[in-house]
Amino acid sequence: MIAIGCDHAGVEMKKAVIDTLASKGFELKDMGTDGEPCDYPVVAEAVCRLVQSGECEKGILICGTGIGMSIAANKFKGIRAALCSDSFSAKYTRLHNDSNVMCMGARTMGTGLACELAEIFMSTGFEGGRHQRRIDLITEIEKNEKGE
Ligand code: RB5
Repeated sequence: MIAIGCDHAGVEMKKAVIDTLASKGFELKDMGTDGEPCDYPVVAEAVCRLVQSGECEKGILICGTGIGMSIAANKFKGIRAALCSDSFSAKYTRLHNDSNVMCMGARTMGTGLACELAEIFMSTGFEGGRHQRRIDLITEIEKNEKGE
């Protein structure tokens, strides 16, 4: 299951990404927005909580630039969110960073490209090996950060 969400800037792109992934057999949980103006951190949290709990294996977040969503998503423990606008990044952030959330900007890239990147992200596995050590270091940083 893949969690997906957007703010008002990303509604059309999100619909296209859902259609593309569904046609490839992926199941999606749409966490909004359906069009009403909303605050992107709220949607980022809804998607990231589903990934944190394991209910969804990965997430996709879309806002105007993808930047707000990626900043918000990376605040959640265990979330490794990657802002992608090219296929190399979409592939290598899975291979090397084991990213579990991909963010994209609806005002900075085309919808066709977004659908292609979503497919790459969902179908590429983590390479492990030396990259696992680096993920473990990120997890250590996260653990050492004081909670409020
Ligand atoms: C909304 O206008 C816009 O600020 C938002 O979609 C996003 O680009 C924030 O990073």
